[in-house]
Amino acid sequence: MKNFNEHNITAAVQARVANATSPRIREISDSLVRHLHTFLREVRPTEAEWAAGIDFLTRTGQMCSATRQEFILFSDTLGASMLVDAINHPGGDGATETTVLGPFYVQGAPEFPLGADISEGLAGDRLLIEGNVKNTAGEPIGGATIDIWHSDPDGYYDVQGPADAPLNMRGRLHADAAGNFWCRTIVPAPYPIPNDGPVGQMLEHQGRHPYRPAHVHFMIAADGYETLTTHVFLSHSPYLDSDVVFGVKDSLIHPLEKLPAGTSPGGHPINQPIDLMRYNFVLSKQRK
Ligand SMILES: [Fe+2]
Repeated sequence: MKNFNEHNITAAVQARVANATSPRIREISDSLVRHLHTFLREVRPTEAEWAAGIDFLTRTGQMCSATRQEFILFSDTLGASMLVDAINHPGGDGATETTVLGPFYVQGAPEFPLGADISEGLAGDRLLIEGNVKNTAGEPIGGATIDIWHSDPDGYYDVQGPADAPLNMRGRLHADAAGNFWCRTIVPAPYPIPNDGPVGQMLEHQGRHPYRPAHVHFMIAADGYETLTTHVFLSHSPYLDSDVVFGVKDSLIHPLEKLPAGTSPGGHPINQPIDLMRYNFVLSKQRK
């Protein structure tokens, strides 16, 4: 086949992927070609515009490192991450709603005993996080693994600091036999996603702000259950209605409770004023 033009090249490329090594690869390749060509016929890019698009993707890849994931930012800011999340976690079974993983998750975060200060003593308003983990039948999930991570009061994550800076404001806990967990840390702030790269330039050209409302990330896993990836958003935060990555859901917005020193929320004595985040999580049974 030859003599391709605007009208016959799509079918030719689709024919070329017809012998893909699996039906799924064929389905994905065929759809990718169809939608890409439709996009190009719709926007009719000049050659300079197409080159700029290639350059954007090139710089997005070059921006990536062990601690900077520009492609996740690209996916998040176009709503693709939340769309994939929605497709895979339609909800409706009583489990806690999900939201994006984001680019700041670190595998193998340090383990802490229940009640520990995962901020490692950083300055900031003190925060006590308490929660429990249950299944959709209301039964506690003892021993569930809870990964927690969040920003500092200036809106930065530990991994955005110097390469040799220690991890903090992140940790892994294990719920007790009744599914309860708690830890101490500091109150996070709203933050702009890293916007000194190509995704930041894209947002600027699109006339968008780069901010996310203040939140704490949770990833909760237990044998026999779907791993829950979500956030709890602080109800006093700005940007709840304009999160740059489209991650906010009403059920995940939660107030902090201001407690004076000398109280014992959840049986955990505190000796200084502290904000309490108390949120209970519900996991879905693992899908077959
Ligand atoms: Fe975050």
